[in-house]
Amino acid sequence: PTYKIGYFVGSLASKSINRTLSRALIRLAPADLEFTEIPIRDLPLYSQDYDADFPAAGSALKSAIESADGILFISPEYNRSIPGGLKNAIDWGSRPWGTNSFARKPTGIIGASPGGIGTAVMQSSMRGVLSFLDAPQLNAPEAYITFKPEVFGDDGEVRDASTESFLRHYMEEYCAFVQRVLYAAGPGHI
Ligand code: FNR
Repeated sequence: PTYKIGYFVGSLASKSINRTLSRALIRLAPADLEFTEIPIRDLPLYSQDYDADFPAAGSALKSAIESADGILFISPEYNRSIPGGLKNAIDWGSRPWGTNSFARKPTGIIGASPGGIGTAVMQSSMRGVLSFLDAPQLNAPEAYITFKPEVFGDDGEVRDASTESFLRHYMEEYCAFVQRVLYAAGPGHI
């Protein structure tokens, strides 16, 4: 079967290294994963005031999450945490109360930084958020990517064999994890 993966890029930068990483991951992923970006750029800043009359942008985000078999977050680390734009999108997806779109969705978290920590602290805060939202997460392998411009082409070509095989392995494990969560959920989910 083919699995539909909705992915979030946690950066709005025009030359985002995380967007480049997303292209590399899509190239290297198993053929049975089909990717659709879930955009975050045009969401207003979330407020509970919106719950009574939920805007179309919020509903579109929620249905994109709900119609995906799995969610993948590819994000920078901002000030040792989740970038505000991405956190805002997650907050939209979690509301109104009782309609958390992330519940039981298999998720993966990966990110790139020019620095050696490779978004580890952002990923750790994401795990707390996603646990609260009842979203199962790929626990291993972890993927903390130190972005080297000579390794990644703009279209996601990967020019280093060990990075390529690591990212390929990550996506194979992510695919297997999505499959396991869907099988565990029973017929109708596979
Ligand atoms: C950063 N950067 C950064 N890097 C990091 O490894 N840990 C951090 O805590 C931060 N904090 C941070 C805050 C803010 C507001 C900015 C703008 C940047 C650097 C960051 O990793 C770098 O700019 C990346 O290029 C951002 O990813 P994108 O936007 O290129 O995908």
